Amino acid sequence: MAADEVYASTGPGVGSGAIECRDIYKWFGTSLILSNLQLSIAHKEFVCIVGPSGCGKTTLLRMIAGLAEVDNGQITIGTQVVTKPLPTVGVVFQHFGLFPWKTVLKNVSLPLVAAGMSKAEARTRAEAAIELVGLKGSNDRYPSQLSGGMKQRAGLARALAIQPEVILLDEPFAAVDAQTREVLQEELLNLWGLHKQTAVFVTHSIDEAITLADRVVVMGVNPGRVVKEIVIPIPRPRTVASVRRHEQYAPLREEIWDLLKVREARVEDQGSSAHEQ
Ligand SMILES: Nc1ncnc2c1ncn2[C@@H]1O[C@H](COP(=O)(O)OP(=O)(O)OP(=O)(O)O)[C@@H](O)[C@H]1O
Ligand SMILES: [Mg+2]
Repeated sequence: MAADEVYASTGPGVGSGAIECRDIYKWFGTSLILSNLQLSIAHKEFVCIVGPSGCGKTTLLRMIAGLAEVDNGQITIGTQVVTKPLPTVGVVFQHFGLFPWKTVLKNVSLPLVAAGMSKAEARTRAEAAIELVGLKGSNDRYPSQLSGGMKQRAGLARALAIQPEVILLDEPFAAVDAQTREVLQEELLNLWGLHKQTAVFVTHSIDEAITLADRVVVMGVNPGRVVKEIVIPIPRPRTVASVRRHEQYAPLREEIWDLLKVREARVEDQGSSAHEQ
């Protein structure tokens, strides 16, 4: 069976993929990391989050994933309050998170088997996801035998194999070279066009955010909060080139850049390290 048929025949999981973050506060020790953060993400919306280093992007994503505690306020996905990882949420991190001693197929099927799926069904699903991300033929390879781009594809396959309603990605393409990064962006645009999960994608790249997102959320630091939400009116289907050519691209880039520049300058004033763009 082709990868797409497996996906089409099983469809999305139960419930809605809308995400609501209400009145979110987060402390680490006595440091207030996130303060009164409000964020609503629609079902099947693609949101990119940008913001200075240390503003709490990863922390927020981990809270949405049910991997970090919410100290105040509430996060809901569909009708469910997030208190632990939900089976309908896939997560992709920057450093791949692959087990080095397991093959690509085993890495991708692991969460499915852990969720109680039979080995045979998990294998079929995992193979379909591996094919979908362009890694067909790499089932039996170990992570050390893969390039950075291939590792990231494997990480993406693992998140997609569970057929999530929501996919959370934390700087997934930051560790690959610029050319591979653009290829992966286009592949993600295509994949997302096919299955349209709700996506929350953290990045330090303004270009990447504009290329991928329906909406870019700009966060500020000390404490972390949402300072601006910018709708990206560039029509889909998109390619990296079509986005760059769009008349709104340069003004959007400038607007986001200006917002980040001000925030980074404030971080430097406070003696913290600012992230390079
Ligand atoms: N487990 C932890 N214990 C204590 N402090 C933490 C912990 N995790 C994060 N922090 C602090 O919380 C703040 C936000 O961290 P976080 O990793 O969420 O930022 P970020 O926006 O993802 O940064 P970057 O862009 O560098 O990835 C930072 O000041 C960080 O030092
Ligand atoms: Mg981070």
